[in-house]
Amino acid sequence: MRVQVVIIGSGPSGLLLGQLLGNAGIETAILDRSSRAHILGRVRAGVLEEGTVALLDKAGVGARMHAEGLPHDGFSLAFDGRDHRIDLFDLTGGKRVMVYGQTELTRDLIEQREADGRLTIHEAANVTPCAFDGAAPYVTYEKDGATHRIDCDFIAGCDGFHGASRKAVPEQAIRTFEKVYPFGWLGLLAEVPPVSDELVYANHPRGFALCSMRSPTRSRYYLQCALDERIEAWSDARFWDELRRRLPAHHGEALVTGPSFETSIAPLRSFVAEPMRFGRLFLVGDAAHIVPPTGAKGLNLAASDVHYLFSGLLEHYRERSGAGLNAYSTRALARVWKAVRFSWWMTSMLHRFPGTGDFDQKIQEAELDYLTHSRAAETVLAENYVGLPY
Ligand code: FAD
Ligand code: DHB
Repeated sequence: MRVQVVIIGSGPSGLLLGQLLGNAGIETAILDRSSRAHILGRVRAGVLEEGTVALLDKAGVGARMHAEGLPHDGFSLAFDGRDHRIDLFDLTGGKRVMVYGQTELTRDLIEQREADGRLTIHEAANVTPCAFDGAAPYVTYEKDGATHRIDCDFIAGCDGFHGASRKAVPEQAIRTFEKVYPFGWLGLLAEVPPVSDELVYANHPRGFALCSMRSPTRSRYYLQCALDERIEAWSDARFWDELRRRLPAHHGEALVTGPSFETSIAPLRSFVAEPMRFGRLFLVGDAAHIVPPTGAKGLNLAASDVHYLFSGLLEHYRERSGAGLNAYSTRALARVWKAVRFSWWMTSMLHRFPGTGDFDQKIQEAELDYLTHSRAAETVLAENYVGLPY
C-alpha cells in the first residue's frame, strides 16, 4: 500500500494532522498500537488555547466544542487562605481559553475521520518507521499475524512520549533535555458540580491542588502527591478530605463530593528532543516534548506543532517548496521552549518541593505576592496561559 503521509499515533496530534491533511486532499494512514475503545477512554488534558480552538475550527471539527465547551475568562490563584483572580480577558486584550476535555476532542476527530472514510489501523504492533533518511520512506507493522508495509512520502511521528518514532532516530542525531520533578499528580473525575465557576490553582503547605472541570456537572480535581504514591491508598473519602484541606475555607465549604469514576497518578516531567525533523520523519507533540501539566500546555503544544507541520506539508504538495518543512523544527521548538519555561515556572511557583529550605519557600511566597500586586507580572502569566501566538 502507498499513501502520501503515514501518521504514527492516533492521539490528538495524529488525528488533527490527519484531518487537516485529509481536508486538503492529501492522503494519510494512521497507525496506532491501541484499540479505538482504549483511545476513547483516556482522560487527560482539559484546557484549550484560542490557537487550538482555531485549528480545530479550521479542521472542521469545532461544532460540538463550541456547543458544549466552556469559555473561561479567568482563573484563581489560591494561597494563604484567599483567592486572587487572574483576569485573562482583561489582561490579554480580550483572549480567553476553552475548557473542553481531550477525551471529547479525540472523539470528535475520530468520528469525523470515520465519517470521511479515511484509513486508521488500530492495534498495530511493532510499528517501525524505516528509511526516512532517504527519498522513499516506509512504515512496517504487524497485525493479525502478518507483517505489513506502507510506503509514503513522509512519516509523522505523533506517537507520544513512549512511542516508536523518536526511538527510531539514531542516538547521535538527537539531543534530549530533561527535568524530572520530585512529585506527581493524583487526578479524580466525578459527576459533581465544580467547586467554582473558574479553575482554582492552589498553593498550600500540604501541597498543590487544582480544581478543574469538564462540564457544569462534572469536576476534575488534582492533588500533588509523592512519586511513590499508590492509587489504591486513596479512597474517595481520603481524596475529598485532602482536597478540602488544601483549599481556602470558602471553597472547602462549597465543595460537593461524590463517587469518583476515574482516578490516575501522573509523574511530572519536562522533556525536549532536538531537532524535531530527521529527513522525512517529523516528531510531533508528546513524541518530541513533555511538559508538567501545570498550566495545561501539553495538548496545546501538540496543536501548534501540527499547525507548523501541516503548513509545511501543504507548501510541499501545493507549491513544490520545501521551505516550510525545512523550517518546521526551528519554528516548533521556539514555541515549545517558551511553553516548557512557562510550565516549569508555574510548577515551581505552586508546588511544595520536598526538602526545600526556608530560602526557597520565601522566594515562592515573594513570587505569589509580586503577582498579586503587579499588573505587569499578571500580564506575563496571562499571555502565556492563553497561549503565545503561532
Ligand atoms: P498522545 O496523546 O500520547 O497520543 C499518542 C498516540 O500514539 C496514542 O494513541 C498511543 O496509543 C499511540 N502510540 C504510542 N506508541 C505507539 C507505537 N509504538 N506505535 C503506534 N502507536 C503508538 N496535558 C495537559 O495539558 N493537562 C493535563 O491534565 C494532562 N494530563 C495528562 C495525563 C497523562 C496520564 C498523560 C500521559 C498526559 C497528560 N497531558 C496533559 C498531556 C496531554 O495529554 C498530551 O500533551 C497530549 O495527549 C499529546 O498528544 P499527542 O497526540 O502528541 O500524544
Ligand atoms: C486541567 C489540567 C491542567 O494541567 C490544567 O493546568 C488545567 C486543567 C484539566 O485536566 O482540566
